[in-house]
Amino acid sequence: MKTVEMKLIATGVLFFLMLITGVFVKKAGKPYPVFLLSIHKILSLLAAVATVITVVQMYKKVDASFWIWALMVITGLFFLLSFTSGTILTTDKDNSGQKEKTENEAEPMKRMHVIAPILTTILAALTFFLMY
Ligand code: HEM
Repeated sequence: MKTVEMKLIATGVLFFLMLITGVFVKKAGKPYPVFLLSIHKILSLLAAVATVITVVQMYKKVDASFWIWALMVITGLFFLLSFTSGTILTTDKDNSGQKEKTENEAEPMKRMHVIAPILTTILAALTFFLMY
């Protein structure tokens, strides 16, 4: 198997583990278990790094069009949105920083942290597919 295929598989596995640990974190609920949350964060970081490494290697072999470039940038932005929404979810305070967030206040960000990761995964898969 060529190294690019191995990198694609490794990236796919990291994405899968990142999504699965996210579901476990949600199931565990607040207060989020520190160990599980840390694993989720580390896997997210590793998935982002693996995505960049794989794309860089694939980029050397293809003539990336404007649309592939646009897709790469949008994927990066959704990754960022996943990181920020996830991080905001782990803070207990509301925007004023004075009182605890209520369940209702946390709901939009929870929804964001479902939509953004799913779109990140789809966009990353599409980028890989078009560059392969
Ligand atoms: C520093 C980065 C991150 C932190 C601190 C974080 C934190 C969290 C937290 C607290 C939850 C539980 C949410 C809830 O109770 O509803 C969660 C769930 C989840 N996270 Fe993350 N996350 C991070 C990055 C990511 C990234 C980059 C992805 C994927 C691109 C991701 C995918 C998910 C998924 C799929 C869930 C499950 C959502 C559900 O089942 O409703 N997370 N994360």
